[in-house]
Amino acid sequence: MSEYRTGLGWDVHRLAPHRPLILGGVAIPSELGLEGHSDADVLAHAITDAILGAAALGDIGMHFPDTDPRWQGAGSLLFLAHARDLACARGYRIVNVDSTVILERPKLTGFRDAIRRQLAATLELDADRVSVKFKTAEKVGPVGEGRSAEAQAIVTLRRD
Ligand code: C5P
Ligand code: MG
Repeated sequence: MSEYRTGLGWDVHRLAPHRPLILGGVAIPSELGLEGHSDADVLAHAITDAILGAAALGDIGMHFPDTDPRWQGAGSLLFLAHARDLACARGYRIVNVDSTVILERPKLTGFRDAIRRQLAATLELDADRVSVKFKTAEKVGPVGEGRSAEAQAIVTLRRD
């Protein structure tokens, strides 16, 4: 009998000028980008936490403390690949990833396939196992006022 486990991830980063907007490892042309110690890839961080959560391996800050100079400006796909490796080492395979980025602007729908492909390549999955959705916050709250971006993710792992 296969064992299935589900994990949830969430993250938020502030938007700021003179910062890149990187989502799922893809650079998106934008006036504002995400602020943080690493490249602040809010989507990669949420998916990383979802994988760690499904395997009960703690959270991203435990594995990559933002006080550690090694992770200053780090590409967050590194965190994602590491979470996959930790889960794999315990016998888990990723079944699928579903995620939502909540960002007021720019429109992201034209980048969906590039983001899915990049995430799938990092996780060594077929792109049809990786879903990325986009929402605005309807101009309400910090996300809606264009001050921050959030991401949510859910991951299913399987162990045979
Ligand atoms: O937030 P709302 O429901 O108005 O979003 C409608 C659609 O706009 C979404 O389903 C998504 O396809 C797209 N969208 C986008 N980029 C964003 C926010 C939403 O492409 N930053
Ligand atoms: Mg983060």
